[in-house]
Amino acid sequence: MELFEILLLLILGLTGWIAAKRILLFRKLAPGPYGLPIVGSLFHLLKVDAIEEFQKYKKKYGKVFSISAGDFYVTVITDYRLIIDNLKKEEFQGRPDFELWEARNAGKRNRGVLFCDGPVWHEQRRFVLRGLRDFGFGKESMEGMLVHELQDLQNTLRKDLGHPVNLSGVFNASVLNSLWYIVTGNRFELSDPTLKTLITLLIDNIRSSLITTPALFFFWPVKYGLIGRETFKNSLKFRETIRKLLDTVIDEHLESYKEGEIRDFVDAYIEQIKTSSDGSSFHSEEGRKNLYSVLLDLFVAGAETTSTTLQWCVLYLSHNPHVQKKVQEEIDNVIGKSRPPNRGDKPRLIYLEAVLNEVHRMCSLVPFSVYHKAVQDSQIGGHFIPKNSVLFFSIYDSHYDEDYWGDPKTFRPERFLDESETKLIRHEPLIPFSSGKRQCLGETLARDTLFLFFTGLLQTFTFEIDPECANNGLRGSPSFVSSPKPFKVIIKERK
Ligand code: HEM
Repeated sequence: MELFEILLLLILGLTGWIAAKRILLFRKLAPGPYGLPIVGSLFHLLKVDAIEEFQKYKKKYGKVFSISAGDFYVTVITDYRLIIDNLKKEEFQGRPDFELWEARNAGKRNRGVLFCDGPVWHEQRRFVLRGLRDFGFGKESMEGMLVHELQDLQNTLRKDLGHPVNLSGVFNASVLNSLWYIVTGNRFELSDPTLKTLITLLIDNIRSSLITTPALFFFWPVKYGLIGRETFKNSLKFRETIRKLLDTVIDEHLESYKEGEIRDFVDAYIEQIKTSSDGSSFHSEEGRKNLYSVLLDLFVAGAETTSTTLQWCVLYLSHNPHVQKKVQEEIDNVIGKSRPPNRGDKPRLIYLEAVLNEVHRMCSLVPFSVYHKAVQDSQIGGHFIPKNSVLFFSIYDSHYDEDYWGDPKTFRPERFLDESETKLIRHEPLIPFSSGKRQCLGETLARDTLFLFFTGLLQTFTFEIDPECANNGLRGSPSFVSSPKPFKVIIKERK
């Protein structure tokens, strides 16, 4: 036999073996579309709205189905009971091994909190939760700062009364500024150019970057410049600028750090670095790298999510003026117009809370949560889940389950109130911040920020949809974070 024939036989044998292995695995996985060889259903999903497409798969294959996406197998879980039960399990707390996430965290995925797993994640998450609680979350000082931010926001909006305005940039600045203050101890004037740069780097760039594209699942063509070369180059450039900015914050803190005088979250982290021993993820240079990743995680995960939810609030209320009026009447009765809101008002603003819940449900901001990974072979709903495969826990489907909600597509805050409309009803499938061990660690701040900003805005202004955008619809963009199509509102100051 010629060498060429031997090689051909070997290649055919290997291809057959890989194909057979794949078919055998597919038979064990939850049912789903086969997709194309190598890329699977990836490019098909790119062309369509994944939420819409998944509704078709759900009808055809059932509430748990699988897809192959580039180098990964993905199981999509759309049943709320299975979502909540499985989000509690240790074996599903991993994060996928995406190469793009490695590049973001200085060459190693397993740093920080958001994309990290295992013992390092446990250690970092515990510290970050405690640190944020000590330096803001739920504290009176944080509330004072948020009210200050709210008043600045109100003054900014007063400059734009009476004509159509797009609020997204304005909300971004206020929310990012609050977070920046809690974490670094400093705030910017809303007009400060550094704040504008930060927004571009942390929010606008993330929205348009590779993280929302199939590159996450199928990275090598991007890495070797076959596709998305420009986007990749730009995202590297952006990452360098963010790195310099956050490194400056860390360096300044290191220089002015005084033992026993902890001023803010970054100081608390530095204290941890200085007192930790070898083997800990806080130790020495690795500790500094983790600090960088933690800061990036907090700003990326915290700024866009909260400001986009605020945009959804304004959009839904400007489309539902009767709801807006009812919220304003409640605010007038409980707070009046002469003082700003505070967290103590929350238990008496029942209807407003119901509206916030309904906005969380309808917008389902992070529709498939942050992707999880199975860290061992396992099962969900009787289907095989292979080790290292990706899990989409569909928050969207939990929020739109017809059997549970009845009329999920209708904006109806009353569903969160009892019959007398004096008590809030808790609905288990409402999980905007996810559930279980990885549940959003900024939830307290996000809820407080949304409550104070939303209440303060409706206390002062009425929002009307610009007639030019009235038919834009209320569907979110199909992306990692679901944002409304750009819209404008006309703001009127309340008398
Ligand atoms: C309306 C606002 C927000 C929403 C809807 C939201 C939603 C979520 C969701 C769905 C997850 C994924 C949980 C999972 O993996 O199952 C998450 C994780 C996370 N969020 Fe939020 N979030 C919001 C605001 C914030 C804020 C203000 C911060 C920071 C201060 C923050 C920091 C984080 C972090 C660090 C994680 C990763 C947690 C982990 O992997 O252990 N989020 N969030």
